Amino acid sequence: MKYRIRFLILLVGAPFILVFLIKCAQNEKRATIFSDTATERKIDSIILLMTLSEKIGQLTLYTSDWDVTGPVLRHDYVDGIKSGRVGAIFNALGVSYISKLQHLAVDSSRLHIPLLFGYDVIHGYKTIFPIPLGEAASWDLKAIEHSARIAAVEATAEGLTWTFAPMVDIARDPRWGRICEGAGEDPFLGSEVATARVNGFQNHDLAAANTLVACAKHFVAYGAAMAGRDYNTVDISDRTLWEVYLPPFHAAVRAGTGTVMSAFNELNGIPASGNKYTITDILKGKWNFQGFVVSDYTSINEMVNQGIVANDKQAADLAFNAGVDMDMQGGVYDKYLAQLFEEGKVDIMLIDEAVRRILRIKFALGLFDDPYRYCNEQREKDSIMTPEHLAFAREIARKSIVLLKNDDHLLPLSKAVPSLAVIGPLADGREDLIGSWSAAGDYKKCITLLEGIKNKVSKQTNITYNRGCGIDDDSKAYFGEAVAAARRSDVVIMAVGEAAWMSGEAASRACINLPGMQEELVKAVVATGKPVVVVLMNGRPLTIPWLEENVNAILETWFGGTMAGEAIADVLFGEYNPSGKLPVTFPRCIGQVPLFYNHKNTGRPASPDDKYTSKYLDVPNTPLYPFGYGLSYTTFKYSGITLSDSILKWDGQIKVSVDVTNTGGRPGEETVQLYTRDVVASVDRPVEELKDFRKIYLKPGETKTVTFTLTRNNLRFFNREMDYVAEPGEFMVFVGTNSADTQKAKFYLVAEEKIKKRKE
Ligand code: NOJ
Repeated sequence: MKYRIRFLILLVGAPFILVFLIKCAQNEKRATIFSDTATERKIDSIILLMTLSEKIGQLTLYTSDWDVTGPVLRHDYVDGIKSGRVGAIFNALGVSYISKLQHLAVDSSRLHIPLLFGYDVIHGYKTIFPIPLGEAASWDLKAIEHSARIAAVEATAEGLTWTFAPMVDIARDPRWGRICEGAGEDPFLGSEVATARVNGFQNHDLAAANTLVACAKHFVAYGAAMAGRDYNTVDISDRTLWEVYLPPFHAAVRAGTGTVMSAFNELNGIPASGNKYTITDILKGKWNFQGFVVSDYTSINEMVNQGIVANDKQAADLAFNAGVDMDMQGGVYDKYLAQLFEEGKVDIMLIDEAVRRILRIKFALGLFDDPYRYCNEQREKDSIMTPEHLAFAREIARKSIVLLKNDDHLLPLSKAVPSLAVIGPLADGREDLIGSWSAAGDYKKCITLLEGIKNKVSKQTNITYNRGCGIDDDSKAYFGEAVAAARRSDVVIMAVGEAAWMSGEAASRACINLPGMQEELVKAVVATGKPVVVVLMNGRPLTIPWLEENVNAILETWFGGTMAGEAIADVLFGEYNPSGKLPVTFPRCIGQVPLFYNHKNTGRPASPDDKYTSKYLDVPNTPLYPFGYGLSYTTFKYSGITLSDSILKWDGQIKVSVDVTNTGGRPGEETVQLYTRDVVASVDRPVEELKDFRKIYLKPGETKTVTFTLTRNNLRFFNREMDYVAEPGEFMVFVGTNSADTQKAKFYLVAEEKIKKRKE
C-alpha cells in the first residue's frame, strides 16, 4: 500500500519534475553572450506577466517624426508607447526628447518596459567620418573600430541605444548606390571590417552606458541587386550566397552583434524578410544567433508587391514564421499578429521567443536597471564633436585616401608653391563632404578642400578658386574663367566627383562616369598644359579612363566627413603619405560590370592571340584599378616569396614570408596582401582569394620581413555537398601590393595518410 502511494505520487509528480528539469536545462542553454541564467529567469517572469498585446508591442518598432527613409505610415506611436503596443522607436534624437518618450513607456505603460531607441549611425554620429567604403580603403581595422567607437560614444550621449549598422553587404556592382555604405567587394576584408565595426559599437560590453547595440544588415544578399538597381530582385546560387554574401554576417554574429536586419530584396524567389531558410535555419539555427532580427523599413509589407503574399496579414504571417522578430514601421505585427495567433497560424511559443530575444537586448543594455542611463544632459554637452573626435576624423580621413596616379612625383606639392588654381564643383562645397547616411552630422561644420588648402600653404601662395561648373548641370558658362585661372597658376587642383545624394539608398546610377560637365571641364583645364591633380569625391567606383590617361595625379578621397578638407590637404602637401588601398575594383567602362578580382576562371581564359577566348572586342578584361590597389609617395619593393615548406600537413601550418623594402625617399605605410588559389578542386575556385593582410610602416631604405601563417583552415570552401572543407592538392599563394601585382609560389596541402604513404 505504502509503495503504491509512493508510486502514485511519483507518477503524478514526474511530468512536473520533468518540465522543471527541461526548463532549467533550457535556461542554461539560453544563457547567451547577451545574458545569463538569472536574466533569462527574469525574462521568463516578465513574459508570464505579459498580455498578448503587450508581447506584440515588444515586436513593434515605429519611427518618430524626425526623419524617414520610406513611405510614411503614420502610427500613433505616443499612444502606442503608453499602452505597451510599441517596444522600440527610431529616428528620435536628443536626450530631452528621448527621455520624454522613455518616461511615457516607463511611467505610463502597465509593465513599465523601457524602449529601445534606434538610428542609422553609419559613419559617425555628429562627428562624421569617411563613408564606410572609404574607411574600408584604410584597411586599418583598429582605426575602423575606433571610428565606430566614437560614433557610439556620441550617439549614446544623445540617448540612443541601437544603431542600424554596420551594413555588411558585399557589393560587386558599382551601379548600386549603397556600395558606399559597406566595405566593398571582398568577403574576407568585409568580414574583418564587420567584426571591427561591431566591436567598435558594442565594445564587448553592452552594459556600459556608452555602447550601442549593433545591427548587421541587410540579411541577406541585398548587395547582389540585379543590374545594381536598388531594391531589385536577387538571383544567385546557394554557393555564391555562402561564399560571398553570408561570411560578413557570420563574422558579425561571431563578434556578438545584438541584432540583424532582414533585407528588402527577394532572394532566389523568396523575399529576404520572409525567408525561413536564411533567418531561422542559417542565422538562428546553424549560427545560433541569440539576438533579434528586425525587418527593414516596411520590408514585410513589401512582400505583397513581390507577389509572394496577397495582403499585409499574410505578409505578417510569412515574416514572423520565417523568424523576423521585430517589424520596422510596417505596423503589420501590431495589426495582425493577434488575429494570426487566434487563427492558429502563429504559435505563442514563437511569440514568446521573439519577445525573449528583444528583452534580452534591453536587459543587456541595462535598461531595466536604469531606463535613463543614456539620458544624461551633461554627457550630451560634453561628448559631441570633441577635439579628440575631430582629430581622429582627420586621421581616419587621411588613412582612407587612395593615391591612384602620381606621374613624375607631382605630389606632394610644396607648401611654398607660388600659385595654385583650385577648381571644381566640389572644391569649396560643404554639403557633399559628409556623404550619404550621415546620421545627425551637420554639413555646415565640414572643412572644405579649399579651406584645408588655404590653411596649409604659405602666405605667399596665390590661390584662385573657380567652381567651373555644377556637379550635375549642363552649363559650360564658367569654363572660360576656370581655364583662365588655370593658365595663371603653377599647379591646378581639381575637385570633381559625385554629389552625396548620388550614392546611398535609392541612388543607383546606370552610368558611373563623372556626372554633368565635369569631365569636359577637366579636359579644358588639362588643355592648358598645366600640371593637374584631380581630387575625386564620390561614393562608388567611377569610370574615369580619360582622367587616368591624361591628368598627372589622382587622389580618391571618397566623401571624407567633417574633417575632409584638412585631411586631403595633409595628403596633397605631404604631411601625410597616402596608404589607402581600393576595397573595390574600378572598371574601365560600365559594360565590364560586374567586375571583381575574385572571379572564377573560364575554360577559355582571355588570350590576345586567340579570338575564341573569353574577352571583349572593345575593352580589355582588366580593370582600370584593381582591388587592393593604391600608391604611396614612396615606393616598395617586394622580394620573392619564401615558404617554410612546400607541404602543408593536414593539421600543420606553413609560413609565407616576403621582404618588403622602402625604396623611395619617404617613410610610408604599405598593406601587404596575401591571396591563395586552389588549383584543382571539386568545384571551381576563384583565381585568387584574399586570405590575410598586414599593414607595415617602413622608413626609407628599411626592409621588413612580413610573415603570414597558413593552415588548412584558410583553404576551406564549400564542396559539392556544401560542406565547408579543405581539399588536399596544389595551391598557389600570392603576396603583393594589390590583387594584380603579386609574387607567387606553390605548395601542397597533404592529408596525413598521404604523407605516411609517401614515407612508406
Ligand atoms: C531603410 C534602409 O534600407 C536601412 O538600411 C535603414 O536602416 C532603415 N531604412 C531605417 O532608416
